[in-house]
Amino acid sequence: MRTILITGAGRGLGLHLARELAGEARLLLHGRDPARTAEVAREFPSARPLIADLSDLSQVDALAAEILATEPRLDVVIHNAAIGGGPFRGRELSADGHELRFAVNHLAPALLTRLLLPLLRASAPAKVINVASMGQAPIDFSDVMLEHGYDGIHAYCQAKLAMIMDTFDLAEEAAGSGVAVNAVHPAHLMATTMVADAGLTAATSTTEGAAPVLRLVHDESGTTGRYFHQLEDRPAHEQAYDPDARARLRALTAALLRP
Ligand SMILES: NC(=O)c1ccc[n+]([C@@H]2O[C@H](COP(=O)([O-])OP(=O)(O)OC[C@H]3O[C@@H](n4cnc5c(N)ncnc54)[C@H](OP(=O)(O)O)[C@@H]3O)[C@@H](O)[C@H]2O)c1
Repeated sequence: MRTILITGAGRGLGLHLARELAGEARLLLHGRDPARTAEVAREFPSARPLIADLSDLSQVDALAAEILATEPRLDVVIHNAAIGGGPFRGRELSADGHELRFAVNHLAPALLTRLLLPLLRASAPAKVINVASMGQAPIDFSDVMLEHGYDGIHAYCQAKLAMIMDTFDLAEEAAGSGVAVNAVHPAHLMATTMVADAGLTAATSTTEGAAPVLRLVHDESGTTGRYFHQLEDRPAHEQAYDPDARARLRALTAALLRP
């Protein structure tokens, strides 16, 4: 039986994915609220709750250490947890002092993947699925932490593009290892807390959003280094293909993860 880690499994798309995958895999269900995460894990026979606030990189370190110390294999990681563009509280910082959306939506999954890579490699063929978004904004390297003219939606979109750029880099790094790394936009305006918090009207369901993620979970083609707009292999924002921007983000990410 495969082991699948789903981050942000307590509600929304993550919970939907857990329900879809429970019959076919051992689930590692990540959440930040211990009581809620335990309650969700109790729904499934072979699920294990794991706790970490992804806005604190030391908790990401601890989460990876716990998995590496106790799980004999890891076949799929679904980086689903994220903060959306709302609620509109203004600019917020992570525990490490980084712009919060960049920290949770890009830095945390980038770190977690790298820490788990040895176990993924040992379990190959394995997969990293980055739940990204069609909402993508180019990174302004003169103000990555968005100290000027903060806007939550822009912060979300910048972080999601960073996640896609990291997907492409990691796929190159992992080439030939049997670990496939892809990013996917699930569906536009799913009926979840994220959409409600941003003051937007839902237009789709988590059933629609889960389908392209599940397709990647079940894909046996070895496809890697792609961005999928739902089921379609489509180009991401053009900055994701700019070698200079990719190198700058790579250097910045490495510096922020290992200061
Ligand atoms: N909704 C859409 O229309 C849409 C469109 C495109 C892409 N997406 C992507 O789809 C994924 C799922 O989104 P969703 O709509 O299901 O959103 P959601 O209902 O708001 O769920 C987000 C999940 O992320 C977790 N999370 C947020 N901050 C966290 C932190 N600091 N530490 C740990 N966990 C944290 C939440 O945990 P708590 O319950 O503890 O807050 C929750 O489980 C996200 O990656 C999102 O960007 C969504």
